[in-house]
Amino acid sequence: MPTESVASLPPLLSSEAARVADKVDGLFGKLLAPPGDRRDRLYLAMAHAAIGGGKRMRPLLTVAASRLFGIEEDRAIRVGTAIECIHVYSLIHDDLPCMDDDDLRRGKPTTHKAFDEATAVLAGDSLHDLAFDILSDPATHERPLVRVELIRALAHASGPAGMAGGQMMDLAAEGETLDLGAITRLQQLKTGALIEYSVEAACILGKLPEDRRTPYRGYARNVGLAFQIADDLIDHSGDEEAAGKRVGKDADMGKATFVSLLGEGRAREQARVLVDQAIEHLQDHGDEADLLRAIARYAVERDR
Ligand code: IPE
Ligand code: IPE
Ligand code: MG
Ligand code: MG
Ligand code: MG
Repeated sequence: MPTESVASLPPLLSSEAARVADKVDGLFGKLLAPPGDRRDRLYLAMAHAAIGGGKRMRPLLTVAASRLFGIEEDRAIRVGTAIECIHVYSLIHDDLPCMDDDDLRRGKPTTHKAFDEATAVLAGDSLHDLAFDILSDPATHERPLVRVELIRALAHASGPAGMAGGQMMDLAAEGETLDLGAITRLQQLKTGALIEYSVEAACILGKLPEDRRTPYRGYARNVGLAFQIADDLIDHSGDEEAAGKRVGKDADMGKATFVSLLGEGRAREQARVLVDQAIEHLQDHGDEADLLRAIARYAVERDR
């Protein structure tokens, strides 16, 4: 993560976010070293999209939640990097001309602009595969059953029942007015599913029984929804340079969002309510959950 973006984070988060971002970048650097043959362009495109940018919110969530359960940080970083692979692939494809048709991402040209569309499609595909390569490696967890649970839950969160399904709903709803329930469902899949997985993965690494996962699932569900409302608010009234991506596009494309339905003021209020609810789910924890609380607040206070 570039230094200037870390400086814009609140104090409690800034050092943790920078540290996690460095570790994620380090792992990506190793995994994406060009092999020195005709595939180099693919590796360079993957690295362009994956390294040196983004808030790394999802890995940070996995690291923060892992702390509650005494999980070694290197495991959480590996899982967080796998999640970031899926996230970055989704961004590469989201920016393609056949989807949102964007030319700026994380303050840089989008992958299809910096390379070409075919390379961008392959870079997205390959990052998707890399996620499961990382999770299935015994370095992530020595127990095969834990690895399978991590893989299965990520597949579920990424595919038609999760992120990709939400993207389909987002495209299908262009130009339509959805009600609150339908927008909530769309956003929970499109963005919420991967954010929920970021916390669930810590529960899996910690081998928490189902009945102990409820508060963390509640926290992550509220943060996921609040996070996408903040994204929609940034598109509606944010600053392009701070955001590192084009703004004002959702209205142009007729996207169905909380902001299009409720207006800016009520959408902002809704996001704050969701954050308060997220934090309530952590009431049984003391200061060991402060990082999770800070992330929840940042999810809606952010300008990028
Ligand atoms: C943007 O995600 C797209 C959404 C799912 C809302 P982020 O806001 O996490 O983007 P980066 O990773 O910081 O660039
Ligand atoms: C994208 O949502 C969500 C995914 C990539 C899954 P948006 O289209 O709102 O994200 P931005 O605003 O382009 O980052
Ligand atoms: Mg989109
Ligand atoms: Mg988009
Ligand atoms: Mg958006």
